[in-house]
Order: sequence, then C-alpha cells, then structure tokens
Amino acid sequence: MVDHEIPLEPIRRPGEQGTLGSLLWRRRSSRSFAGRSLGLDALASIVWAAQGRTADGHRVCPSAHALYPLTLSVVAGNIDNLAAGVYSYDADHDRLRLITVGDHRDVVAGTTLVDYEWLRQAAALLILTGDIDSADRHFADQPPLGTRGRRYVWLEAGHACQNIYLQAAEAGLGAVLVAGFHDDRLSNLGPKIVPAGHHPLTILGIGHPS
Ligand SMILES: Cc1cc2nc3c(=O)[nH]c(=O)nc-3n(C[C@H](O)[C@H](O)[C@H](O)COP(=O)(O)O)c2cc1C
Repeated sequence: MVDHEIPLEPIRRPGEQGTLGSLLWRRRSSRSFAGRSLGLDALASIVWAAQGRTADGHRVCPSAHALYPLTLSVVAGNIDNLAAGVYSYDADHDRLRLITVGDHRDVVAGTTLVDYEWLRQAAALLILTGDIDSADRHFADQPPLGTRGRRYVWLEAGHACQNIYLQAAEAGLGAVLVAGFHDDRLSNLGPKIVPAGHHPLTILGIGHPS
C-alpha cells in the first residue's frame, strides 16, 4: 500500500538559530523604518549578498552562462560614514563608486506607483538593473528566439532580492522589495541611477525596522 499524503512537518528539522531555515522563518517585508542610521558594515554585507563575488570569481547569485547582466545602485541616505549619494556597487573589487552626491531617496521613492511614504524613511534604497538587450542577444538561439535572455535576467534579479532579504534578516534589519514603479521615471532620473542601456528591475528599501 502506497501513502498518497506524506506529512513532512514532523520530520522536518526545525529552523535552529544560525541556520538557513531559521532565516527563512524570520524573513519578512518591512514597511516601517526607524530614523536610525545604518552601519556601513551592514550595508557592505547586504550589497555583497546581492551581487558580490566569491573566491572562484563567480558571484553569490547563479547566473545563466555566468553572464552577470545585473548592476546594483545604492541610493544612500542615512548610512554611517558614507556621504548621502548615489553609488554603484563594483562587484569585482567589492567597493562602492560614487556617482553623485546628495540624498536621492525622495526622488526614487517618488517613482513608485503608490509613492510610498515609508520607503523614503529607509536608510538606503538598492536598485537592481539589468542589461536585457545584451542578454536577449546572448541567448538569441534559445527559444523563444530573441527573448529568452530577459527571462534569465529577471530570474537572476529574484535570486539577488532573496539574498538581500536573508542578509537583512540575519542582521535583524528590515528590507522590502518594491517592484511597483514607473520604469520610465526611474530610468530618466538625472544621476545615472539606472546605467545606460539597462532596465530597472527592482527597488529595495533597507534599514532598521521601527
Ligand atoms: C515581485 C514582487 C513585487 C513586489 N512589489 C511590491 C511593491 O511594489 N510594494 C510593496 O510594498 N511590496 C512589494 N512586494 C512585497 C510583497 O508585498 C510581500 O512579499 C508580500 O506581502 C508577502 O509578505 P512577506 O514578504 O513579509 O512574506 C513585492 C514582492 C514581490 C515578490
């Protein structure tokens, strides 16, 4: 006789402190941020979790053909020892590169579909962008011809977002993925938050939860 329903909960190992399982239990979207500044070390851990390199030259996220079509921009507003500004994350050297000075959290939050007031309170906004055209060209021989690459870009962005959530959860920080925004408004913001030729994929707010 074959069982058709096999209950897993009784045999599944509980999410003990320090395990991935416990992080998965704790991961939540946070939409209320305290005004407190975020340490630069916390930001460093989160951007590395999003797109950082590993010892073998790969990155923390899987990438179809190891193409790595994503970039990460950091809209820093309330980070210790980091001037408010827009930075791009240089994954090869694990460092931030200043693009422009000034607090741009308001203008970025203003591109969202609902103009979320709470998003403006996040210590930093992380923006993932993707080179969709290059990916489509790279995977042009895979069906559906000419548009397969973009799927891979979006999938890879999902990996990066979950990594950000989990790294934030590990540090007791809040994170939220906001994918509802006006693409054209975000793309056209002055200070090259979205690099030329890239498509904006996600905004994530991070900070101390209130
Ligand atoms: C693709 C995607 C898009 C999302 N876009 C938004 C958004 O625009 N605004 C928002 O407040 N939350 C957004 N979220 C977060 C979801 O609302 C959230 O994950 C959901 O309410 C479940 O809550 P939890 O993340 O705490 O489990 C998005 C999540 C995903 C996966």
